[in-house]
Amino acid sequence: MATADVHINYVHAQWSSRWVFVLAATGSAVGLGNIWKFPYMVGQGGGGAFVLVYLVCIALVGIPIMMAEVLLGRRARRSPVNTMRVLALDEGAGAGWQFVGWLGMATGFLILSFYSVVAGWTLAYVFRTASGVFATQDPQQIKALFGVFVTDPAKVLIWHTLFMVTTTVIVARGVQAGLEKAVRFMMPVLLILLLALVFYAMGSSGFGQGIEFLFSTDFSRLTPGVILGAMGQAFFSLSLGMGAILIYGSYLPQSASIAGSTFMIIAADTAVALLAGLAIFPIVFANGLEPAAGPPLIFEILPIAFGQMPGGGFWGTLFFVLLVFAAWTSAISLIEPAVAWLTETRGFRRMVSAVLTGGLAWLLGLLTIMSFSHWAFSFRFLGLEKTNGFFDIFDILTTNITLPVGGILIAVFAGWKMQRPHLQDELRLASRAGFEVWLFLTRFVAPVMVGLLLLYLLFGHYFDA
Ligand code: TRP
Repeated sequence: MATADVHINYVHAQWSSRWVFVLAATGSAVGLGNIWKFPYMVGQGGGGAFVLVYLVCIALVGIPIMMAEVLLGRRARRSPVNTMRVLALDEGAGAGWQFVGWLGMATGFLILSFYSVVAGWTLAYVFRTASGVFATQDPQQIKALFGVFVTDPAKVLIWHTLFMVTTTVIVARGVQAGLEKAVRFMMPVLLILLLALVFYAMGSSGFGQGIEFLFSTDFSRLTPGVILGAMGQAFFSLSLGMGAILIYGSYLPQSASIAGSTFMIIAADTAVALLAGLAIFPIVFANGLEPAAGPPLIFEILPIAFGQMPGGGFWGTLFFVLLVFAAWTSAISLIEPAVAWLTETRGFRRMVSAVLTGGLAWLLGLLTIMSFSHWAFSFRFLGLEKTNGFFDIFDILTTNITLPVGGILIAVFAGWKMQRPHLQDELRLASRAGFEVWLFLTRFVAPVMVGLLLLYLLFGHYFDA
């Protein structure tokens, strides 16, 4: 491949404006990771200590790597695999860098497989909440209801299938056609509803305790496992490390500011996660429930609030509907790298690519469904008891391993392999100092921080007593 063709535009479309990119990337970032995963990880990981490390990781690792992903994508305008290959050749590095793209595609499938199952739970809870059943039950009964539901594979399968089919249809139609319009409306409404929930939580007797849990840092709970979990969550929540933001960046118009867009996306994502925490923990404490409930947490807690609130049937239904939308806008970004790759290299129509990728993720999802019932098995990981077999394995493998590894490789490639003028050309930062700070974070801080944590993951058991 000749080096000059880096600059030709390939088969793909472009966002109609920078704002559409910001919206789409925010849609990718804001999802179940913020409202389902973040609260339960905080609950298991020691409250404020986890939150603090999470925020540090967002600032020192999330910002530079997101800028790097957008930069790489926009420069090559191809799927992650081909972006890495073409840029590596252009910069005189080895074509082996395309491994980053392959790892990313595999990671996307694994994440989507369990993401769709959880989104399926959410979809089921739209109808449950609408039925008004939660208004008639006490907290313990609501909790038990979820347990009965997830251990019934046939039921969960229906919702998982429904979510995956709709996701595939959206991806097949192309991101611009339907989704952009929906996101424009849905995301602000989700934010407003979340704020309303926070107001409700403020009036509950657990508010003080909830705030205390979220923001007071008990450093004795700051184990390497918690730090590793918080870093993985930063990657997961920002959609970093697998090429999702890269592919969205590849559709970004040339004139748009990468740094400005990145700050907006990250601010929105962080705000939604913190608001979710503020809405959930007061209700947990007010009802004497367990913050460390794990993945079931929001499905046990939020229906309690909706059951007690005036108009809760309506607001609760709306909330879960919006959460499903947030999940859709994230799910499409998980397979977009694979769809783009199939379109580029195999010449498939989007329809065919979408069905193939959605089908594979659907199939993998069956393992997660079974992990909550017949095929459940448990193991210990970094001091936490994991009880949901394949679900936990896929989650750990991606959140804690392949996303951070992908993130390091992206940072190293951008920081060390690309020529400075090429970087400056894409970023076009107004301030020289700003560029130097970004380069320093990308070259040193992000790879070293993430690398040390991964080393701990591999060899940490030698240090444990
Ligand atoms: N960030 C999304 C969420 O928080 C999930 C997601 C979408 C994702 N695309 C991703 C996670 C790419 C990791 C990588 O719900």
